Amino acid sequence: MPKYLKQRGTIDIYNEEANVYQKIIDTCCKCSRNFNFNQIVTPTFESSSLYSRATGESSDIVRKEMYDFKDKKGRDITLRPEGTAGVIRAIIENKLYATNDLPLKYYYHGSFFRYERPQIGRFREFMQFGVEIVGSNSYLDDIESILLITNILNDLNIKDYTIRINSFGNEKCRNTHRDNIKNFFTPHIENLCEDCKERFEKNPLRILDCKVDKEYIEKLNIPVSYDSLDEQSKNEFNEILDILKKNEINVVVDKYLVRGLDYYTGLIYEVDITLKDGKTLTIGGGGRYSSLVKELDGPDLSCVGFGLGVNRLALVLIDLFGLDSFAINPKFYIMPFSKETYSLAFKIAKTLRENNNNVVLETNNKSISSMFKYASKHNFEYAIMLGEDELKNNQVKIKNLKTQEQYYITLDDILGGKFNG
Ligand code: HAM
Repeated sequence: MPKYLKQRGTIDIYNEEANVYQKIIDTCCKCSRNFNFNQIVTPTFESSSLYSRATGESSDIVRKEMYDFKDKKGRDITLRPEGTAGVIRAIIENKLYATNDLPLKYYYHGSFFRYERPQIGRFREFMQFGVEIVGSNSYLDDIESILLITNILNDLNIKDYTIRINSFGNEKCRNTHRDNIKNFFTPHIENLCEDCKERFEKNPLRILDCKVDKEYIEKLNIPVSYDSLDEQSKNEFNEILDILKKNEINVVVDKYLVRGLDYYTGLIYEVDITLKDGKTLTIGGGGRYSSLVKELDGPDLSCVGFGLGVNRLALVLIDLFGLDSFAINPKFYIMPFSKETYSLAFKIAKTLRENNNNVVLETNNKSISSMFKYASKHNFEYAIMLGEDELKNNQVKIKNLKTQEQYYITLDDILGGKFNG
């Protein structure tokens, strides 16, 4: 066994699997740009207090899962467990709301860190793609955010997913629901786990998300947030559902859905995908958060956003289409038969690469037969043979490795970019 091994909950990603990740990120970025989002890049670590304030004292993330440490000057630092807090901090610090039209629309991707118990689709360092719409009071932006997710999934050829959705309405409805939940759980408090006893004090809604008390809670007739919505919030929620339906987006109202982070206020949602073995992964989630910017000492701006788990999306794509389908087959294999042809080999490679082709130039002085073995093993489309005889005639020999057909092309044509396979 090698002496140095990766840390528990971390992964090495390479070859076809790395292509899967690249495809996910490329697709997410492309779709977000089509919705007119700009990229924002924020640091991978921030002050610990940002997360306790933003992500929330009562969230499992802050209570148990933070990668925090003191730096050499004794500052409390945390590796980012999620993206929203850092993005909002950056927007406030750089006053982006003052110099740009609202709503601001940003996307981001990168590594995030949570000290969780590793399992399928759950890592300690994981990748997320996220977006934040900042400074929007319109529920049309809640819809836009959901449509962006469906657009991404569709582009990735993922057709089978469930979007679960719920709403807490405005601040007044939320407080009413919170009080209802608190009153409801008061006689049950002794039967709940220690974490839930703490949640009961700090954020009773989070009790609904408890994995330990799940069975006990499921048997209870818990008040649902919909019943606490006022007329306007109900209308808005129903309008969102209606517009989504008319746009052929299927969502399921999950009246007990709560999110694991403290900042959510209005509409929330999660997206689930079931793998062939029956295991369901939550591949993303998000919603509206209307007080975070103000709580971080910024202006009063309401926001909507979501995060997608890139590792989980990768598991889904591999499950659906198989790892092999993500192999990238190189197109041209340039075979210099002798030292005299080396400089020409580089010129040809340059022209083909400028035309956006995947080109491998054999650099290892192999025999002709081992070059052909290599070409067929790696599924090249064309071998370009640079032999001295052909060069004397200002030609190169091409072999189409799929049809086995062979022919000659003039140096002028290949260097002039006229040959592209
Ligand atoms: P979240 O639900 O905590 O939301 O994370 C979003 C997604 O990241 C999850 O649905 C999951 O796919 C993935 N994820 C979370 N933890 C792990 C892990 N340990 N290993 C692998 N994947 C994981 C947020 O982070 C919010 N910031 C989303 C948001 C943005 N809400 C508003 N704006």
